[in-house]
Amino acid sequence: MKNISKYLGSLAVLLLCLACGDNMVEKGPIKRSGQADVISLDDDWRFIRYGLQADGTRVEEPAGMFEPATDDSDWETLDVPHDFAIKGPFRMDLAGNTGRLPFQGIGWYRKTFTVDEADQGKRFYVDFDGVMANAQVWLNGEYVGTWPYGYNSFRLDLTPFIQVGKENLLAVRTDTEKWDSRWYPGAGIYRHVWLVKTGQVHVRHWGTKMETTNLTEKTADLHFTVEVENHLNEETQAVVKTSVYELDSLDCLGKRVLRFDDQTLPLKAMSAGKVDLQKQMDDCKRWDIESPNRYMACVTIQVDGQETDRYYTPFGVRETSVSRDGFFLNGRRVEIKGVCNHHDLGALGAAFNRSALERQFRIMREMGCNSIRTSHNPPAPELLDLADKTGMLIMDEAFDAWAHGKREWDYNKLYEEWHEKDLEALVRRDWNHPSVVFWSIGNEVLEQQNVEMTRHLVEIVKELDKTRPVTNGYNDPNGGRASGASMALDVMGVNYFFYEQAKWDQDERYKNMPTIGTETSSCLSTRGVYFQGDTIRKDFQITSYDVDAPGWGCNPDTQFATNYRYPHLLGEYVWTGFDYLGEPTPFNSDNTNLLNFRTDPSKRAELEKQLAELARTQPPSRSSYFGIVDLAGFPKDRYYLYQSHWRPDYPMAHILPHWNWVGREGQIIPVHVYTSGTEAELFVNGKSYGRKAKEEGKDFRLVWDSVVYQPGTVKVIAYKDGEEWAKDEIQTTGEAQKIQLSVDHASIIGSEDELAFVTATVVDASGRKVPTACLPLKVEVTGCGELVATDNGDPTSFTPFQSAERESFNGLALAIVRGKKGTTGKMQVKVSGAGLESASIEIEVK
Ligand code: GAL
Repeated sequence: MKNISKYLGSLAVLLLCLACGDNMVEKGPIKRSGQADVISLDDDWRFIRYGLQADGTRVEEPAGMFEPATDDSDWETLDVPHDFAIKGPFRMDLAGNTGRLPFQGIGWYRKTFTVDEADQGKRFYVDFDGVMANAQVWLNGEYVGTWPYGYNSFRLDLTPFIQVGKENLLAVRTDTEKWDSRWYPGAGIYRHVWLVKTGQVHVRHWGTKMETTNLTEKTADLHFTVEVENHLNEETQAVVKTSVYELDSLDCLGKRVLRFDDQTLPLKAMSAGKVDLQKQMDDCKRWDIESPNRYMACVTIQVDGQETDRYYTPFGVRETSVSRDGFFLNGRRVEIKGVCNHHDLGALGAAFNRSALERQFRIMREMGCNSIRTSHNPPAPELLDLADKTGMLIMDEAFDAWAHGKREWDYNKLYEEWHEKDLEALVRRDWNHPSVVFWSIGNEVLEQQNVEMTRHLVEIVKELDKTRPVTNGYNDPNGGRASGASMALDVMGVNYFFYEQAKWDQDERYKNMPTIGTETSSCLSTRGVYFQGDTIRKDFQITSYDVDAPGWGCNPDTQFATNYRYPHLLGEYVWTGFDYLGEPTPFNSDNTNLLNFRTDPSKRAELEKQLAELARTQPPSRSSYFGIVDLAGFPKDRYYLYQSHWRPDYPMAHILPHWNWVGREGQIIPVHVYTSGTEAELFVNGKSYGRKAKEEGKDFRLVWDSVVYQPGTVKVIAYKDGEEWAKDEIQTTGEAQKIQLSVDHASIIGSEDELAFVTATVVDASGRKVPTACLPLKVEVTGCGELVATDNGDPTSFTPFQSAERESFNGLALAIVRGKKGTTGKMQVKVSGAGLESASIEIEVK
């Protein structure tokens, strides 16, 4: 059904197009940039796992799995995006840094598809948005090609092997036994797959580039290049027609705003050429954070009056620049209030899902975050589409390693043969996104002092795109500066080590260089967990007072003070926005942690001892504590600290900890308040604990250290400029009595793989969240929906994400649901728990 609707979708697109580049008006959303004649190959794959199995045993991989004759009838049937490791199980014998999940193994995927007789004479390509890792591809038993780096998108040419009018068999082998990582990478075809059809003369893959320059209030110069390939064995002439349309947030074209002059491009047999188009655009609406206006350049290629290709290039009109004094968007200084995020989507693993990412963006945006660093690799293409649509700025990062790996099977094994291809693929794929404002060539790579290599990689980028600054994330900024490697960059990226900024500001060579916190803070906490006195870590959880960080990190407040002290810094990317699978520092024995103390032997020795101890004791943690938001997407307290600082005009106050301290009556419980106000007064059961004020640039939270616990109510009234500004109140609750459900979307589109995120809150008789409730819950989905995963944000839980049984963790649990394939109607999600009044919620599937 899904397949049929996709075919119908592209048919509808064709029918509704009245001549592109001429007076084309396409109704309905455009699903994808690039070639217009594209079909999703996501559905109905056959899958089998060889090599290392989930339980640690091995199943030898037979030969010839790509042969059409191989019987795959008993393989699993599934749709991609698919991550074959997220099912687990979590295993204590597997490394914490990769989430204690069995990601290593060999995946075989096979899919059949038919190509119409009418397509005789066309060219056919398969586009993989990302395959983890070492993808090898066959069509009808013939080897088509490979792309080893799991994070890049790639295209392979199927034309020589395709059977028109017949069934074709696409076979893909993935190999994560020869891949390792400092975090959970996922495994398999974890992003979308597309079949692309074109005529013999067509736009090159990622072959259009739009640059917008000389912006005035209303106008901009558009410079658009189109690279065209001729696959005919004869000379030909391609007519390139290009129009620009408005593009709305639903990806529908609006009115045509500009038409470039048609170009006739002579092309020799089996060759390529390029046209350069320039025109001033009048009345243009700029792309900006609050007004992410987009346009679409539509190109058609015609040969002898016949259309041979149509190609879509979404873009935005905007201008960026960097200087020592900051990052500028459309001439305005914008402080980067950013987060680093890994690619996994929590309980969904690495398998890409648009609604999960949209939820992440909504949560980040609400916090005041305006930028994401795609640490430490190219993101799913949809992440950039979403960033374009919502006005999020992106630092697009290529690598975590160059020629020297941090782990044995790291990018080092690919660097020599692949780094140029990988970097080119990243830049070409992403260069039209207005949201992409920085390129990053690496993160804490071992060769960060190497002048030659840095220059070489920067040159690869600049050769393709001169409009964006290039950076690199340093954890040895002194080394990078001393060797001169940083001179090759436009922006100096510093991870954590800002304590020498005053010295760097005096350094003749570097004092005028734009500098950004490519990674900051690394504060650690578990949502809803608080310990008293000096206890910061206990039972593999970390207090949520937001005071803990590894040796190289600091609490958010310290970084805010640094940014205040050095206002010329471009801003920061906090490590991290969301918790992620793997790297459960400080319960992570991975020796690559030592790389953070390259130049400090005593700190290194101390950490070495801790890591040895962790390796011996093997804590059960399997996901990170760094997130401002937990793995299930529930904000931790820190979320409100960032919100208070990043959204100074948004009235808010947030009290921590909770106020359910049975047995601690009469004892001191420190109370912290995060507020965008400048002062606040705290009341416990009506008694004032006094009014406190923040000293600008020094205090970012208000602390009442001597509050004596008595059950009841804690209330804060925040003030700004002497006026009442915001309030917050928490209360001691009664026992857990019931479950309350809420959902982020009351209706979802089943055929689009939309997900709904249902939050279960354990509440007392008066409906107040019980912040200490860790109780077994059960999720049942009936009607036309199904359960995809559950989570609660506990980094030590070994319950599989697919389980319908999940404990609430400090009052909250999450159920992720979707519509059953091929159905529309309603689904009911019911959550129950022993001794609790259960709750149900209805979701429409369209
Ligand atoms: C950095 C590293 C990140 C992450 C972080 C944890 O050094 O670049 O990938 O490991 O430390 O604090």
